[in-house]
Amino acid sequence: MEKKQISFELSIYEDVSELSQSEQKLLHAAEQARENAYAPYSNFQVGAAVLLANGETVIGSNQENASYPSGLCAERVAVFQAGARYPKIPLKILAISARSKDHLVDLPAAPCGNCRQSIMEYEQNQKSPIVILLKAEKGPIYKCSSMADILPLAFNSSFLGDS
Ligand code: THU
Repeated sequence: MEKKQISFELSIYEDVSELSQSEQKLLHAAEQARENAYAPYSNFQVGAAVLLANGETVIGSNQENASYPSGLCAERVAVFQAGARYPKIPLKILAISARSKDHLVDLPAAPCGNCRQSIMEYEQNQKSPIVILLKAEKGPIYKCSSMADILPLAFNSSFLGDS
């Protein structure tokens, strides 16, 4: 029997001023995008902004529905939009900003499992990592170097065979 340790490096920043100018700008775009969240059921508002290799920024926010599972997270709204508008352009950084209308969120909310799975496929296809920047309304900023880091043992199309 063999045991394997799987770990990843999480960078934790106390303040946005510790980030690069482009990271700060992207986080700000995610915060602005959050204002357009449609979240009347959860009151949990999430904004996402993706920086593409061509310099474009694509945003998204969570969009809920009276039929709850029909809604979509901010991350997938942004990344799917990036895929639809710029299909061949790699995604460099995904910034995510979350807040609640009901309580103070002071720790970054990381992408849900469905978003990790969806975004992982873009990362694998482009063969370069997508950096993930996370921030709540208050508190630290988390930076992960890739989606693979936070989705170990990911399922992918290779398991489906050659066809
Ligand atoms: N949500 C996101 O948009 N991103 C996340 O990473 C976690 C959750 C949304 C989905 C739903 O609209 C609300 O937050 C509460 O789960």
